[in-house]
Amino acid sequence: MTSHVQLGGISLAVHARGSGVPVLLLHGFPFDHTMWVGQEPLGDEVRLIVPDQRGFGRSVGPPPRSVEELADDAATLLDALHVRQPAVVCGLSMGGYVAQHVAARHPHRVRALVLADTKLEADTPEARAARRKLAATVARVGQEAVAEAMIPNLLARSEKARAKPGRPGIEARLRSMILNTSVETITATLAALGARPDMSAEMRGVRAPVLLVVGEEDVITPPECLERAARVLPRPRLVVMTGCGHMAPLEDPATFNAAVRDFLREEGAEAHGAGREAAGR
Ligand code: MLT
Repeated sequence: MTSHVQLGGISLAVHARGSGVPVLLLHGFPFDHTMWVGQEPLGDEVRLIVPDQRGFGRSVGPPPRSVEELADDAATLLDALHVRQPAVVCGLSMGGYVAQHVAARHPHRVRALVLADTKLEADTPEARAARRKLAATVARVGQEAVAEAMIPNLLARSEKARAKPGRPGIEARLRSMILNTSVETITATLAALGARPDMSAEMRGVRAPVLLVVGEEDVITPPECLERAARVLPRPRLVVMTGCGHMAPLEDPATFNAAVRDFLREEGAEAHGAGREAAGR
């Protein structure tokens, strides 16, 4: 079921399903909550909370000014939904940056993290410059420029992956999500992503267990990014998904969901309210 939740001056469209342990799914850039449709079966076992983040999908209100603001929205959303127990916060790429900030800024809200196809580090100066250039192009010619720049890099490129029957459908869904995102949201978010800080030091203090998932063929946040994260985080578990690129949960939902299920089963009993160590802040 999708409904709107008022958070101050904005209204987030939120898809919710199931009951039990709350699991918040945060989409990547420039997508919306429908990128998680393959994770729907998890709603048979947990309480899925899947928002369109500020500016994206069917949410109403201004675009994000920072990744920190998106993290505060996520925490406020949990309050608004009366989620009392700490949540499993799962994010892909941009959603992973947001999830890290939720753990750093609202540690009592986090039972465990799932960081998919993302990284802890800030942008390099070159990556920031590329974002500025892309934002200028989008402002001039529209969202098609983002589709053109991103889609070739989002999915696994191996012949086997390209031959999968679902592949054209995934590309079409990605394109449609990108084209449905406003130019204003795209340009504002590119600036916010470029300004995000390095989270490595913060993440060293995260006491919650963290599942790191990455597509073996991810060229945007390659496996090395998640391997570095695994060396920094106190309680990591790393899963590399073969035949997948940057959009692992869409490319192979069954394997992604199995990794999440195994992680929750093994960590569930002990991961109570273990966000970030207060003393380390
Ligand atoms: C994403 O998939 O969310 C983006 O690739 C993140 C980024 O541009 O850093």
